[in-house]
Amino acid sequence: MNGIYEEVLERLKGVRNLAELDALKAEYLGRKGKIKVLFDELKNLPIEERKERGRILNEIREKVERAFEEKREELLDVVEIFDPTIPGKPYFGVGVKHPIFIVAEKILDILESMGFDIQDAPEVEEELYNFEMLNIPKYHPARDMQQTLYLNKGKLLRTHTSPFQIRYMLKNKPPLKAATFGKVFRADDFDATHSPVFHQIEGLAVDRNIGIGDLKWVIEKIVEKLFGEGTKVKFTPSYFPFTEPSMEVHVFYKGRWLEMLGCGMIHPNVLRNVGIDPDEWTGYAFGIGVERFAMVKYGIEDIRMFYENDKRFLEIFKGIL
Ligand code: PHE
Repeated sequence: MNGIYEEVLERLKGVRNLAELDALKAEYLGRKGKIKVLFDELKNLPIEERKERGRILNEIREKVERAFEEKREELLDVVEIFDPTIPGKPYFGVGVKHPIFIVAEKILDILESMGFDIQDAPEVEEELYNFEMLNIPKYHPARDMQQTLYLNKGKLLRTHTSPFQIRYMLKNKPPLKAATFGKVFRADDFDATHSPVFHQIEGLAVDRNIGIGDLKWVIEKIVEKLFGEGTKVKFTPSYFPFTEPSMEVHVFYKGRWLEMLGCGMIHPNVLRNVGIDPDEWTGYAFGIGVERFAMVKYGIEDIRMFYENDKRFLEIFKGIL
C-alpha cells in the first residue's frame, strides 16, 4: 500500500498519450485495479485497523486520481500545440517596415503599374559602366561630383544606380522601360544630410518618339502618389553628362520648394555606347534619392536616423504600409 502513489507518479512520467493514460488508470483505479484490490483486502482486518487503513487508502486514491487528472491536462495541452490542423494566427507583435522601404515600395509599385520592368543590379560595378559608358570619361571634371570608392581591377562601389541603364540596354532591345532600387556608395561625410551609403531608384524608358512630356508625366505621378494630388512640381535646367537636356525636379511641399531628383533625356552618346541608334530611338532617365523623399515626406531632419535602427524611431512607422 505504501509507495503505490510514488509508483503511479513514476509510471505517469512514461505516458505519452491519452490511450496510454487510460490503460494505466484502469490498472490502478479500474474495477480490478490495484487500489480496488487493496480496498477489498480491508474486510479481512480487525475493525480498528480497518478504519485506520481505510482512511489512509482513501487519501492515497484521491492523490492518485489527481495525478491522473493533471497528466490528462498536460497531454491535452501538448496535443493542442502539435495539432498541425490548427489554423495559423496572425501576429503583429513586433517588426515594422523601414521608412526607406515604405517609400521605395510606393515608388516601385507605381512604376510597375506603368509597365516598368523592375530588376536588381550589382553594388560592385565596373568603372566602365559607372562612368565611361555613361559619357563620363577619365579625367572628366564630372567625376569629382561623386566621391568614388574604388576597388581593385577596374571595379568600384557604384556611386549611383545609373550604370543600371547601361546594363539593361546592353541586354534588352528597345522599346524598353525598366527600373531598379538599391544602395549607392560615396566617400562622403556622415552628418545630418550626408551618408556614405544611401538608396536610389533609377528608371529609364527608350522608344520611338519619347519626349520630355513622357518623363514629366511619370515624375508627376510619383510625386502625386507620395505627396498627394495637386502637389506642385517644377522642372529646372541642370547638368548630368549622361542626359541632355538634364533637369532637376523641385516639389512644393509644406510651404517650400524642395529639390527632389535628377532626370533628363538619355544622351545620344550613351545610346550609341550600348548600340542603340539615337536617330531612331530616344529615351529618358531619372534617379531618385530615396532618403531624400523619405525625409521630406516624414519630416525627418537627420539622415542618420535611418541607419541607427533606434526602436523609438522605427515605431513611428508602425502600421504604415
Ligand atoms: N545618377 C544621378 C545622380 O546620382 C541622377 C540621375 C539619374 C540624373 C538619371 C539623370 C538621370 O545624381
